[in-house]
Amino acid sequence: MTANGLQMSESVLLCFFSLNVFVWLSASVVADTCISMDEWVQNPTAKTALDDIIPCVDNATAQETLRQTKETTYQLVNVVDYVVSNVSNRNFPPQAGNLYYNQSGSLMPLLCNPFNSDFTDRKCAAGEVWKNYICQVSSSGICTTPGRLTPSLYKQMESAVNLSYGLSRYGPFLVNLEDCTFVRETFTKISHSYCPDLRRYSQWIYVGLVIVSAAVMLSLIFWVIYARERRHRVYTKQFEGPGKAS
Ligand SMILES: *[C@@H]1O[C@H](CO)[C@@H](O)[C@H](O)[C@H]1NC(C)=O
Ligand SMILES: *[C@@H]1O[C@H](CO)[C@@H](O)[C@H](O)[C@H]1NC(C)=O
Ligand SMILES: *[C@@H]1O[C@H](CO)[C@@H](O)[C@H](O)[C@H]1NC(C)=O
Ligand SMILES: *[C@@H]1O[C@H](CO)[C@@H](O)[C@H](O)[C@H]1NC(C)=O
Repeated sequence: MTANGLQMSESVLLCFFSLNVFVWLSASVVADTCISMDEWVQNPTAKTALDDIIPCVDNATAQETLRQTKETTYQLVNVVDYVVSNVSNRNFPPQAGNLYYNQSGSLMPLLCNPFNSDFTDRKCAAGEVWKNYICQVSSSGICTTPGRLTPSLYKQMESAVNLSYGLSRYGPFLVNLEDCTFVRETFTKISHSYCPDLRRYSQWIYVGLVIVSAAVMLSLIFWVIYARERRHRVYTKQFEGPGKAS
């Protein structure tokens, strides 16, 4: 029983020791991480420890991506408007081939381009609705009611509009991700609002664990002394007594 007890106390001790090491490591990892983040945020151009793990492109590349995103949006809207003014809004004779689908009725508004030709932002009133311009089609794809768009043409135009909307809306955000502005902002926030607390708390936890494990160690030592003492007494008794034990 004593041997078992000793083994158990050894495991407990080992457990506490490992826990201490773990907490100490976590505390230093938190501290290291906080220092690395500070370093990285404050030195946008210097090579720091974090640069190897966070993929960022330089500012010029990011700006170029943004320009291309805007250009794509700009051209896409131009193509859509070209179709609106030069196909949907014109009344072709049936001999016009592909361009004729018996389009008729009131003219469709053009799509507002969110960029000027120099890619500066342009104000657009929301909500150009083209749904009202869809006609009903015959089996051969010719409008049988007044309207300027066949359902399939409407779908294609809507896709293009969705795409350009997505590009102009999320492009700047994606570029932010690309040049890590977003990450820098997050890191700044973390290191300002959380790092001091994290450091303090991990210190407190560390101190608490040291106290607890010191207490456990002391009681183990006393327990071992007590067990030895008792075994010693039993041993002495065996020699003094009539020797009944095996
Ligand atoms: C990147 O460059 C643009 C101008 O070219 C500037 O407005 C922007 O602040 C720069 N961003 C960073 C993170 O240096
Ligand atoms: C319609 O086509 C003409 C030439 O065919 C072009 O000059 C004009 O810009 C087009 N309209 C739009 C809105 O693109
Ligand atoms: C073309 O559309 C008009 C309605 O705008 C309809 O009355 C006419 O029948 C259509 N023509 C054909 C060939 O479908
Ligand atoms: C375009 O976007 C609208 C709403 O954002 C959506 O309801 C519609 O299904 C999209 N159309 C296509 C063709 O992706």
